[in-house]
Amino acid sequence: MPVDILVGTQWGDEGKGKLIDVLTRDVDMVVRFQGGNNAGHTVEIGDEHYVLHLVPSGIFRPNVVNVIGNGLVVDVLGLVEEMKGIAAKGFSIDNIRLSNRAQLIFEYHKRADALKESNAGTRKIGTTKRGIGPAYADKMNRTGIRGIDLKNPIRLEEQFRAEAERYNKMFAEHNIAPLNIDEEWALVREAAAFLSPYVCDTVYLVNDAIKAGKNVLCEGAQAALLDIDHGTYPFVTSSNTVSGGACTGAGIAPQKIRDTWGVIKAYTTRVGEGPFPTELFDENGETLRKIGHEFGATTGRPRRCGWFDAVASRYACMVDGVNKLAVTKLDVLDQFEQIGVCVAYEINGRVTKEFPASAEELAAVKPVLEWLPGWKEDISAVTSYDKLPENAKKYLARIAELVDSELAIISVGPRRDQTFEV
Ligand code: IMP
Repeated sequence: MPVDILVGTQWGDEGKGKLIDVLTRDVDMVVRFQGGNNAGHTVEIGDEHYVLHLVPSGIFRPNVVNVIGNGLVVDVLGLVEEMKGIAAKGFSIDNIRLSNRAQLIFEYHKRADALKESNAGTRKIGTTKRGIGPAYADKMNRTGIRGIDLKNPIRLEEQFRAEAERYNKMFAEHNIAPLNIDEEWALVREAAAFLSPYVCDTVYLVNDAIKAGKNVLCEGAQAALLDIDHGTYPFVTSSNTVSGGACTGAGIAPQKIRDTWGVIKAYTTRVGEGPFPTELFDENGETLRKIGHEFGATTGRPRRCGWFDAVASRYACMVDGVNKLAVTKLDVLDQFEQIGVCVAYEINGRVTKEFPASAEELAAVKPVLEWLPGWKEDISAVTSYDKLPENAKKYLARIAELVDSELAIISVGPRRDQTFEV
């Protein structure tokens, strides 16, 4: 009953899509368990690159079942567009399944997201404006509309109109143009008809697969430091991004889990607002952004870049229970003479290795940096761990030691073939 989970251990954009694609060689089912189309998982096959937002990253392997689990918030129109885009590129979308328990995102959620951000002042989060927060808020308020409702157009219309009217009242209070409910409903009705055949009870589907001995991989989106409980609250996303989220967000019991893969980028990036102790504002930061192509896959925003933060990632690996570490983008560090690693935080003269719960406190810490010698050579064509320069191996060993996890996979470029085991 091998169920593995793959999660990000920083602030997202660690290269999870690529790793999932590599790991799906031997996988029968890939399950997304949280988040929505705020995610942008990039998969490169040959010279082509594909960005996935809601569809699990197993879609490019024939025979892999791709499950959009109950823990997601699903942009109805966005999913249709994404599925049609995949089909237009010649890949089958027959193996996609959408949970009847997943929550749905409509236009009013996106407008509410933008409205909240524009009124937030210093509490602005820098969301992707995909309606993620408002849709999860509706779920918790028990006013959400779910996958199962796509199969019943009469019920769907009733619920959609009632919710859209409720939101329109709120928009009117803020002098925002109301949603044209008739026009929006026409789009939703069409999308529902398209998606309806893909909707099923994915909890039974996943558990039947586990019982039948199939290999199931749960694909995390965003990452631990953006988790609603464990991240840099309030500068977080609205779901449980840590590995435990796979149990609730896919309906899998904890004892069924075998390995937790933690994807870690060899340096750190963050999109949106919020504290980031190792952020670099100098030419080193620029170099990381340029060489690492650090621009958001979903929004195109430039990512903030900094040295590897072992304090933050150690907390993430602890909560996630990472037992297999996949280090990505090691090649981006090729040209540095020296590479910084944050091994502790200094807070008001006190040194700690603990990740603070308070975003204000985190914003005020001074990173304690350790300097490791760079390797100063191009490693993008290296195909095995043994062939890595000694300094690169030392760097990897040090970060694995600091985050208290075992190295398992190293990635030195975006393509499938630029990945090897340790
Ligand atoms: P939301 O998920 O759109 O509500 O955004 C909340 C925060 O999470 C913002 O700082 C976003 O930039 C960040 N975020 C959301 N999804 C991703 C992702 O896939 N990668 C990196 N950051 C993300």
